[in-house]
Amino acid sequence: MARSDRGWEAGSDFRYAITSGGDVIGSCGLRQVGAGVWYIGYWLHPAWTGKGFATMAAGALVGAGKGIPGVDRIEIRHDAANPASGAVARRLGFAEAERVREPDGPEAPGEVGVTVVWCIDARPAAAS
Ligand SMILES: CC(C)(COP(=O)(O)OP(=O)(O)OC[C@H]1O[C@@H](n2cnc3c(N)ncnc32)[C@H](O)[C@@H]1OP(=O)(O)O)[C@@H](O)C(=O)NCCC(=O)NCCS
Repeated sequence: MARSDRGWEAGSDFRYAITSGGDVIGSCGLRQVGAGVWYIGYWLHPAWTGKGFATMAAGALVGAGKGIPGVDRIEIRHDAANPASGAVARRLGFAEAERVREPDGPEAPGEVGVTVVWCIDARPAAAS
């Protein structure tokens, strides 16, 4: 929560809770990772998957990101062994841009150490 507060204060890392009926069921965020480049992340409690909440939350963040001055591109990144995350990106109109082999290998059990990068154009002309 403290890190979240600092991100909001800095204006470069906006984290949100995803809630349903007052319960926190997941989280999502939009943060700057480079000049004109922002990144969206998300997760859900397993009991709340399969209902479209991640797609709805990430879609709202795409809309918010396009409203930030100077944002050219929004990315979603995930390990290649995580197709559910990629499906969220695909549903929202992101295009797969590249696959990057991580030099240090997988970060967590079940991962393959290949990051899939999805992009969407966030420039004002694209938004209109
Ligand atoms: C990534 C993650 C959030 C995806 O969750 P998810 O439940 O698949 O995604 P959504 O909430 O958008 O739900 C999509 C599913 O709901 C269905 N659905 C139902 N109503 C829907 C609606 N109104 N809109 C979109 N999808 C809907 C879709 O058909 C889809 O079903 P399917 O999985 O059978 O194809 C989840 O797997 C997770 O938390 N993983 C761990 C963290 C993680 O990997 N995060 C990604 C790193 S960026």
